[in-house]
Amino acid sequence: MKKTMMGTLLHFLTVLLGVLSILVLVQAQDQSGFISIACGLPEHLNFSSKSTTINYISDANFIDTGVSNRIQPIGNNITVLQQLEYVRSFPNGVKNCYKINVTNGTKYLIRASFFYGNYDNLNEPPQFDLHFGANVWDTINASLYRTREIIYTPSQDYIQPCLVNTGNGTPFISTIELRPLNNTIYVTDSPKSVLLRFLRLDIGSITNLQYRYKDDVYDRIWAPFQWDGKKNLSTNNDLLLQNNHKPPSIVMSTAVTSVNASAPLQFYWDSDDVNDQYYLYLYFNEVEELAASETRAFNITVNEKFWYGPVIPTYRAAYTVYSNSATPLTGAARYQVSLSKTENSSLPPILNAVEIYKIKDFSESETA
Ligand SMILES: *[C@@H]1O[C@H](CO)[C@@H](O)[C@H](O)[C@H]1NC(C)=O
Ligand SMILES: *[C@@H]1O[C@H](CO)[C@@H](O)[C@H](O)[C@H]1NC(C)=O
Ligand SMILES: *[C@@H]1O[C@H](CO)[C@@H](O)[C@H](O)[C@H]1NC(C)=O
Ligand SMILES: *[C@@H]1O[C@H](CO)[C@@H](O)[C@H](O)[C@H]1NC(C)=O
Ligand SMILES: *[C@@H]1O[C@H](CO)[C@@H](O)[C@H](O)[C@H]1NC(C)=O
Ligand SMILES: *[C@@H]1O[C@H](CO)[C@@H](O)[C@H](O)[C@H]1NC(C)=O
Ligand SMILES: *[C@@H]1O[C@H](CO)[C@@H](O)[C@H](O)[C@H]1NC(C)=O
Ligand SMILES: *[C@@H]1O[C@H](CO)[C@@H](O)[C@H](O)[C@H]1NC(C)=O
Ligand SMILES: *[C@@H]1O[C@H](CO)[C@@H](O)[C@H](O)[C@H]1NC(C)=O
Ligand SMILES: *[C@@H]1O[C@H](CO)[C@@H](O)[C@H](O)[C@H]1NC(C)=O
Repeated sequence: MKKTMMGTLLHFLTVLLGVLSILVLVQAQDQSGFISIACGLPEHLNFSSKSTTINYISDANFIDTGVSNRIQPIGNNITVLQQLEYVRSFPNGVKNCYKINVTNGTKYLIRASFFYGNYDNLNEPPQFDLHFGANVWDTINASLYRTREIIYTPSQDYIQPCLVNTGNGTPFISTIELRPLNNTIYVTDSPKSVLLRFLRLDIGSITNLQYRYKDDVYDRIWAPFQWDGKKNLSTNNDLLLQNNHKPPSIVMSTAVTSVNASAPLQFYWDSDDVNDQYYLYLYFNEVEELAASETRAFNITVNEKFWYGPVIPTYRAAYTVYSNSATPLTGAARYQVSLSKTENSSLPPILNAVEIYKIKDFSESETA
């Protein structure tokens, strides 16, 4: 395969994205079922986030071990997100677990975040493991701001995220956030097959801002992605018709398209292990009012095999094309996705947003 046909590598810009506070005034809105825990926060300092209105509470009622620490200021005029100002660290014991009440059988987006912020004044970011009950979730190297997310349906009325000392410094944690989802989306073959977020991108962003609640009712965090060499398309952000994945209107209001109308839109990502299974979610919304003589239709291939099509995006309506348990992407070291216009389409393909999840097996006990 020619290198020029490879397309663009999709990746997150991890730098400081998401750490800094940008003040946007928003009105309070329903966040029922959200559990937002600011770890290490003293109990009398519960607060409502100014940028999202999300109410954060202390972790005091969810754990008996560990110590509360405040991070170091990172610069005179720079404000860190309020929920990252404290951490709970675990100098004692190998495995320390939270116990958080949930609704059995409800699907949740569960996000843990880690911002070292030199809280111990040692300037030595640790590395440690994150477990979910008896299941190994991931390794956290805290040299950068990290977030980890799973989509998981508990079969008990509490969950136990745990921090495990692996001999590379004292584990800590900044936040734990739980967001109930509709059980009809992000479906896997079994509750033990958990979706790990690999990436979630707002394609063709013109603001370069990330969006989350309350633009996103499920508080997914969409990172801006600018695609070199592609044409940006945008519209006002009123989506007339939502679908059950409920992508934010503002995210769906921008897209990219090929400059050369007959060229495909192509991107790829690499897998560490050919046995890994991925679920791909592609989001579309027609952002241009097409003339009667115009059509936009395209087929999608993955590694040159037909995946779905033809896609014909509707004006101001969300549309999601996604994998399910019968069609996970697996068996390759690189996944190359191509959107190619059909023969009779007068316009090139578009892409508004993308999510990629990796399947992880959580068949050990969900409690510690
Ligand atoms: C803060 O949140 C905790 C829940 O972790 C609650 O028990 C406590 O009463 C709250 N404190 C205040 C002052 O609201
Ligand atoms: C902080 O802001 C003030 C005034 O806006 C400016 O004079 C100063 O240089 C800034 N300091 C830093 C570290 O950026
Ligand atoms: C969790 O649920 C148990 C049993 O219903 C209850 O005793 C406990 O107080 C709850 N914990 C919190 C932090 O709400
Ligand atoms: C964490 O990552 C940084 C940067 O990649 C690396 O220098 C450091 O050695 C890692 N820490 C551990 C304990 O592996
Ligand atoms: C959770 O719900 C499932 C079925 O939805 C049920 O089989 C199980 O007993 C419940 N577990 C608890 C601890 O309530
Ligand atoms: C969940 O999605 C289904 C199918 O789209 C819908 O019928 C149902 O009303 C949704 N439930 C909630 C609570 O939004
Ligand atoms: C698309 O928009 C981004 C952000 O405004 C910009 O950096 C990029 O150059 C634009 N692309 C084109 C082809 O104009
Ligand atoms: C446009 O893309 C097609 C298909 O990839 C290619 O054959 C053609 O040479 C391209 N045209 C230009 C002007 O780049
Ligand atoms: C697109 O897919 C359809 C099947 O849905 C097929 O009939 C058509 O030939 C494909 N077009 C191209 C250009 O691959
Ligand atoms: C494409 O257009 C031609 C000419 O109008 C027509 O014969 C053909 O059936 C069309 N193909 C598809 C896939 O719609």
